Amino acid sequence: MLTSGFVAFLAAPNSAFAATPAIRNGDACKKVGKKITEGNKTFECVERDGVRVWQRVKSSGTPTSSTTTVPTTSEVKVLDSAQLALGASLTAIATSGGSSFAVVVTRTAGGVVAFSRTCTHLGSLVVPRGSDQLYCPSHGSIFNASSGAVIEGPANRALTQYKATERNGSIYITV
Ligand code: FES
Repeated sequence: MLTSGFVAFLAAPNSAFAATPAIRNGDACKKVGKKITEGNKTFECVERDGVRVWQRVKSSGTPTSSTTTVPTTSEVKVLDSAQLALGASLTAIATSGGSSFAVVVTRTAGGVVAFSRTCTHLGSLVVPRGSDQLYCPSHGSIFNASSGAVIEGPANRALTQYKATERNGSIYITV
């Protein structure tokens, strides 16, 4: 009886195991950079404002979203000029078009510069550390706060830079 039940279990269609739920834009994911293809759709795990979600990728390899519209040339105020001393770096959240962007802004001798806080290794958020450095606490990557360049891995790509401008006592980034 037990044996026949076991055989019946093995012979039964494995529909209970084949029903993998389809991935949709915005579903939670675990590993930033991981890609999954379902049918003719490819999704990539990305981090947005500290939250890791699946995002559909166009055939060009660029993640896209059918649910989030982000203006590409929107200027957003991130800090008051007085908050940022020469050589200092501060983190801020820029909100535009319903999306939020975690950024870090540094005042250099040549003006203000801004970078995404998303580490190019696996997507954790970098933090200012010491003089002119941004540090990722997950695996120890270090970036130059003035250029975004990698100083020490495991990250091997510079941080994404935003255009930063300053006028009338405020600092803006273009997202
Ligand atoms: S996620 Fe930043 S070093 Fe690994």
